[in-house]
Amino acid sequence: MLNDIQTIKNLAREEIEKAHSLKTVHELKIKYLGKKGIFTHKIKSLGLIPQEDRREYGRILNETKNYIEELLAKYENSFKTLELNKTLQTQRIDVTAPGYCIPAGHVHPTTQVLDEIISIFTSLSFNVEEGPEVELDFYNFEALNMHKDHPARDMQDTFYITEDIVLRTHTSSVQVRIMEKTAPPLRVIAPGKVYRCDADVTHIPMFHQLEGFMVDKHVKMSDLKGVLEVFIHMIFGPDTKLRFRPSFFPFTEPSAEIDISCVICKGVGCNVCKNTGWLEILGAGMINPRIFEMAGYAPDQYTGFAFGMGIERIAMLKYGIDDIRLFYENDKRFLEQF
Ligand code: DAH
Repeated sequence: MLNDIQTIKNLAREEIEKAHSLKTVHELKIKYLGKKGIFTHKIKSLGLIPQEDRREYGRILNETKNYIEELLAKYENSFKTLELNKTLQTQRIDVTAPGYCIPAGHVHPTTQVLDEIISIFTSLSFNVEEGPEVELDFYNFEALNMHKDHPARDMQDTFYITEDIVLRTHTSSVQVRIMEKTAPPLRVIAPGKVYRCDADVTHIPMFHQLEGFMVDKHVKMSDLKGVLEVFIHMIFGPDTKLRFRPSFFPFTEPSAEIDISCVICKGVGCNVCKNTGWLEILGAGMINPRIFEMAGYAPDQYTGFAFGMGIERIAMLKYGIDDIRLFYENDKRFLEQF
């Protein structure tokens, strides 16, 4: 019996001493000490040893097992040190190597233009306000003098949530919301997302608008003209001409559409301006006194102007972009140009 242990010990020592790699040491560890290893088997079969010999046998078995364990650990350590030294010698960290270049993001062209427009108007003392995108029919239409039968309410253009709740179709919805909670004088811009059930080269279902309005005693059409002229000259350059054309909006009276001289061909005529030399850029007008009534302002004391513009439209003209859908395709080749 004890001879048996001695034989295993000799064999194990021989094998361990011959080991030439960490892998072999690990294999031997499994062979001798693993769950199904030789020593584990021996310990499990201790019960078969006659009672009187069991104690002595167990002691020697344990001693031998510990010896083998220590021997394996010794070899394991020396192989590990060897491998570590090898790695340290062959793999040096070059602290002078250039780092990885993490690609920088870009501010989206819509945001860039929006930021620029906002900074122009804040420099003219306009405050920035916001309103909800999911809006009451009241603020989007009714309070702006667009009653139930107005064509702008056509189901084709408006996303209805319920009969009384819509996705706002324009930022004009912010006008009465602000007037209700603020007494004049007011100078406000309200940028944000708007929604229309429409999609082609020039239309997308969600786009950005910026609404502007000013209310005080004695606000005149010439104030509107002055403010818009400053704005257009700052955003498109001082040589840009403005043209006011009579138009109609239910919430302004009189109403105008404002054109600028074509920023692409400088008014000579090109396909962007359809050879007219002019580009339509804004809707505007003097706030209809009915809106003041809706907001609880005294219509005989106050006057005001309002205007609204599409941000993507301005960005397209500023950067010469010919397809509005490019703004929302998230194509990096497009976005990286800004
Ligand atoms: N809300 C109009 C639209 O979406 C734009 C507009 C026109 C806004 C005239 C105004 C305005 O404030 O006075 O087409």
